[in-house]
Amino acid sequence: MQNKSLILITGCAGFIGFHLAEKLLKKNQIIHGYDNLNNYYDIKLKEDRLKILKKYSNFKFKQIDISNYKRIYQDFKKNNYRFVINLAAQAGVRYSVENPRAYFDNNLLGFFNILEVSRTFKIKHLLYASTSSVYGENNKFPLKENYETSNPLTFYAATKKSNEVMAYSYSNIYKLPSTGLRFFTVYGPYGRPDMALFKFVESILNKKNLNLFNRGNHERDFTYVDDVVNAIDKLIKLPPKKNIPHDIFNIASSKPIKLKKYLNIIENNLNYKAKIKLKEMQIGDIKKTHGSIDKIFKKINFKPNTKIQNGISKFINWYKNEYK
Ligand SMILES: NC(=O)c1ccc[n+]([C@@H]2O[C@H](COP(=O)([O-])OP(=O)(O)OC[C@H]3O[C@@H](n4cnc5c(N)ncnc54)[C@H](O)[C@@H]3O)[C@@H](O)[C@H]2O)c1
Repeated sequence: MQNKSLILITGCAGFIGFHLAEKLLKKNQIIHGYDNLNNYYDIKLKEDRLKILKKYSNFKFKQIDISNYKRIYQDFKKNNYRFVINLAAQAGVRYSVENPRAYFDNNLLGFFNILEVSRTFKIKHLLYASTSSVYGENNKFPLKENYETSNPLTFYAATKKSNEVMAYSYSNIYKLPSTGLRFFTVYGPYGRPDMALFKFVESILNKKNLNLFNRGNHERDFTYVDDVVNAIDKLIKLPPKKNIPHDIFNIASSKPIKLKKYLNIIENNLNYKAKIKLKEMQIGDIKKTHGSIDKIFKKINFKPNTKIQNGISKFINWYKNEYK
């Protein structure tokens, strides 16, 4: 018999995909996961995440690249996916300055392929990752979903904004229920090596110099990964029901802090001082993010409940164990 609630997570060996898959597997959902295991960062970290997921008998991993339409079409033909969560993408704001093509291939062509199979196989709900970066240098805080987002500062943000408008058009024409998730700087155990928390902890423990851009005055709305995956879990079974069944939500903690304060918390936890190199702003950097969570609160009663000190401490415990 075909499974009536089979869930596909793309990017399941990635940071957020891994946590989401594990959360759903623990609830006995049947999950299939795609990942192309690219080498944007340490593949061993992706393999370590996968090792944990593969312990669950209700999980099936497939090394599939979403930019390969034939491959995903064949797989959709064989499996009755009902819910798709697209987290596979070329992530990272800064890398898009060096290598915009990676963003075109994975985030535009790849996402187009996901839209195509989703409408062809009439899935019940497509959820997909967007980003707080779509707000650009908007300075009316907290940032609300209906604010202007047509001035992306980087090509990464441009591809994610494009995903939102591509999904909207599929929801309009093919009535594909879809929901865009604007994540705000997600952090936690198994986090990405290209992100601030990982880099700060790594530099401090290895007594290396640490670059603090904009002299640590950037403000970020750091959001703990468990809060993020709890929100996604609740949204999966709530596809938009409007005439154009598309919606967008910020997923944020709504408590921005300055990078220098964030670094202080890390230093206090590790009981070491960082060797800081103060640097100026980098091209494409956004000075502040602070998301409103009113809309997602109304939808699912979303209340992020991880204090930044606790979240950082959980990351550090994981890091010390993983890289001892
Ligand atoms: N982590 C954050 O703070 C954050 C913030 C905003 C948006 N996002 C978005 O959320 C999503 C997940 O982010 P993450 O932090 O887990 O990143 P990640 O890089 O850890 O995970 C993405 C995963 O997708 C895989 N992948 C990339 N291209 C692929 C392709 N063409 N086919 C199949 N797999 C592919 C990668 O191998 C990786 O394992 C991404 O779309 C990212 O842009 C993340």
